[in-house]
Amino acid sequence: MPTFPKTFIRADKNKETEMPEAVDLWFASFADFDGCDAAKTGADLLDDEERRRRDRFLFTRDRDSFALSHGLLRLVLSSYSKTNPAAWTYAWNDWGKPRIVEPAAEASLRFNLSHTRGGALIGVSRSLEVGVDIEATQRETSCLDLADRYFSPSEVAALRQLPDSRQRERFFELWTLKESYIKARGMGLAIPLDQFSFAFPKEYDPAGEVVPAISFTPPLDDQPEEWQFVGRPVGATFRTAAAVRCRRDQQLRMIWRRLRPGPVSEAELLA
Ligand SMILES: CC(C)(COP(=O)(O)OP(=O)(O)OC[C@H]1O[C@@H](n2cnc3c(N)ncnc32)[C@H](O)[C@@H]1OP(=O)(O)O)[C@@H](O)C(=O)NCCC(=O)NCCS
Repeated sequence: MPTFPKTFIRADKNKETEMPEAVDLWFASFADFDGCDAAKTGADLLDDEERRRRDRFLFTRDRDSFALSHGLLRLVLSSYSKTNPAAWTYAWNDWGKPRIVEPAAEASLRFNLSHTRGGALIGVSRSLEVGVDIEATQRETSCLDLADRYFSPSEVAALRQLPDSRQRERFFELWTLKESYIKARGMGLAIPLDQFSFAFPKEYDPAGEVVPAISFTPPLDDQPEEWQFVGRPVGATFRTAAAVRCRRDQQLRMIWRRLRPGPVSEAELLA
């Protein structure tokens, strides 16, 4: 059943704003697709290269997740265009970030996909570079060890100051935000994760949305004011984040939607 969009407006309140830019964030929990042959539906939309990649996975579960994620991506892209979902053609940059090449008229449509055990997140924008990440937070992870190894010194210090009960949550908050940034840049782990840091507002509520500030450490050359970020939990299972190359003083509209079996146009808004 279609519902009204819940719209998040981000802007410096005192600044004149131009036309709002928009990013759509599409979330899917694979559990919602159980029992509707979704992996096959997704697989039917894949191109030869995607099928080859899917077939490299050893376990059916991983093959099905790949087919479903990439099939959903094609369906979502087609909700912005008259293009048949099976007709999208991609090319990749040197670090593996895909972009649209066919139809050429839609090449400016930006997207990014993330998938994890049990869920996927897709970011789409007409004009803004976007990176997204989703992580399943229930899995076994040595949070502090990984943080020590990959995060910046200020992030590790802030993480270690939290009560034990909050450290795991903060780890995933940081991880997803950091991944979303390197994915928006399109360079993946070629950007060292300790050369940029996220700081959380004091009044931050982990159950709600977070809009943190980023800072960069040389030699990483980038400007904090060029970026906007958002992170949020989805249920008890997933942590998500999005990075958008959009000036902080510019209005940015982010709409979160939840995909379920049925027409993509009827995707419901994520509460
Ligand atoms: C490849 C990488 C960009 C993301 O990998 P990931 O987190 O394992 O996977 P995600 O599901 O979030 O993203 C994968 C998708 O992003 C897209 N992608 C691939 N390379 C990309 C890049 N350089 N930039 C942006 N997007 C990229 C693809 O659509 C890919 O899907 P596919 O592999 O099914 O085709 C890279 O950042 C990476 O390898 N990260 C490893 C994570 C890690 O160890 N982090 C340590 C933190 S403690």
